[in-house]
Amino acid sequence: MKLLVLHGLNLNMFGKRDPAQYGTTTLAEIDDAIARLAADLGASVQCFQTNFEGAMVERIHQAVSDGTDAVVINAGAWTHYSYGIRDALAILSCPIVEVHMSNVHAREPFRHTSVFSSIVRGQICGFGVDSYLLGVRAAASAVQQNRSA
Ligand code: DQA
Repeated sequence: MKLLVLHGLNLNMFGKRDPAQYGTTTLAEIDDAIARLAADLGASVQCFQTNFEGAMVERIHQAVSDGTDAVVINAGAWTHYSYGIRDALAILSCPIVEVHMSNVHAREPFRHTSVFSSIVRGQICGFGVDSYLLGVRAAASAVQQNRSA
């Protein structure tokens, strides 16, 4: 099983950025935890981060034909307004899980909207690094369910 974890803009600053919301774990440490969990689940995983919307769109396009079985995405602020990334995600036929470290619903009103919500399998937010790990578990389980359906 091939999983793809996508991190959007500003998320390379985890560890240094707003620790009250995002804690002090770095993105490299998050990616390590994801890799360990994926190995436990018998899956391979690639993690990708960019601050450039077009680069994110192109990585999503690659996932259409590179054998990706499921995507976990924390698109950062793009979540709230990027129809370009939404349209790219909508091309994928595999399950997509949206994750956020913080509880976006307990924050500013602009964070309460996700332009991805109607095209993702589900959303996980508010659990810090565990949001990613729960997202990876949910993605792997969605792939298994699709395979046995
Ligand atoms: C975030 C929440 C977004 O609202 C914010 O713009 C981020 C991080 C999170 O992981 O909690 O950059 O996606």
